Amino acid sequence: MPLRMVCFLLFAGAVAPARDRNYDEAKVSPYALPDALTLASGERVTDAQTWMKKRRPELLELFESQMYGRSLAKTPRIEFEVTSLDARALDGKATREEVRIWLAGNKIGPRMDLLLYLPNAVSKPVPAFLGLNFGGNHSVSPDPGIKLSEGRAETPRGRDAGCWQVEKILARGYALATVYYGDIEPDSSGGWKAGVRATLRKPDDWGVICAWAWGLSRALDYLEEDQAIDAKRVAVMGHSRLGKAALWAGARDERFAITLSNNSGEGGAALARRNFGETTADLNYHFPHWFCGNFKQYSGREETLPFDQHDLIALIAPRAVYVASAVEDRQSDPHGEFLAAKNAEPVYRLFGKPGLGVDDMPAINQSVGEFIGYHIRSGKHDVTEFDWEQYLNFADRHFKASIPKRQ
Ligand code: GCU
Repeated sequence: MPLRMVCFLLFAGAVAPARDRNYDEAKVSPYALPDALTLASGERVTDAQTWMKKRRPELLELFESQMYGRSLAKTPRIEFEVTSLDARALDGKATREEVRIWLAGNKIGPRMDLLLYLPNAVSKPVPAFLGLNFGGNHSVSPDPGIKLSEGRAETPRGRDAGCWQVEKILARGYALATVYYGDIEPDSSGGWKAGVRATLRKPDDWGVICAWAWGLSRALDYLEEDQAIDAKRVAVMGHSRLGKAALWAGARDERFAITLSNNSGEGGAALARRNFGETTADLNYHFPHWFCGNFKQYSGREETLPFDQHDLIALIAPRAVYVASAVEDRQSDPHGEFLAAKNAEPVYRLFGKPGLGVDDMPAINQSVGEFIGYHIRSGKHDVTEFDWEQYLNFADRHFKASIPKRQ
């Protein structure tokens, strides 16, 4: 094929406008998922060791080169400084800590501000939930002591308190750590100029979802330094595009004990090959900065992807993972999210870990699963108190050793 034609096709793939989306289950075209347990060489994976040594690295490499992109080859050591500490926050229920974290190995490069709430009623170290927020750190609670996130100061304090359930998390004995996602990199096609991805040259250079996931790992670097946190019991959580980032963080970084995907949809937990709701072409067209350059070639050609999103969930094995959908969040394809979780089970089985424990989608508002958890809640694309209750119950089960009460 002449070079000009190749260029045209690649370009056309990059900008292919979203086509009509299918929202009819009867019109989902048949598709075949790649087998998670078959190596590129054709060899079958039948034990956990071969999975960890061969298939997991092979899949990680494919997701890196074809979808999320590669982050820095060498991770710089974070520098940090506790910028505020209040041991009597939230009517004495919590200790609020704010920490500035520099991401480039010195105190002049890119940085992010982490907000941490620790429950006062339990002895330390405590397990924690970590997640990026959309509205600035001060959006997660009306607590007037939170510093307004730079670049997001206009968000009303406590605007997203319902999505974070800070007091409930603390009452259950967990810490909550959160960072404004725009601190790592603003969510726009030119955002990389102001973020951690200093240069972008190659088709497999990281997309911003990978940058946010990388930032979550840097936040965990800090939590490992904080004596009040049990860094071996940290659950990474994210909603929507930040759920995609949480999944990629959990898949890559084995230090995350639990990964929680809330309505992450296409490019997250939902199967790409199922033509229901949002498509790869939609993602590439509306959010070209989210994934790497190579991902553009899969617009309308999902069947040529060398993996599907069940493989992403399987990369988290044998650690626990939870996928949550919402009935009215049809663009995220709840059924496709369930099927991705279901098709990750064979990998969990290699480790002797039970997965969902059901073959069909559970009833609405019913949580299922042991090492792979799932629910579909009533209502819209959102994070609600119900979602958090399931995450807390799931974390309780996995972090079980009951959290000792302070004498
Ligand atoms: C858009 C996008 C989704 C994404 C969502 C969000 O709706 O199409 O893929 O999950 O934004 O992040 O809120």
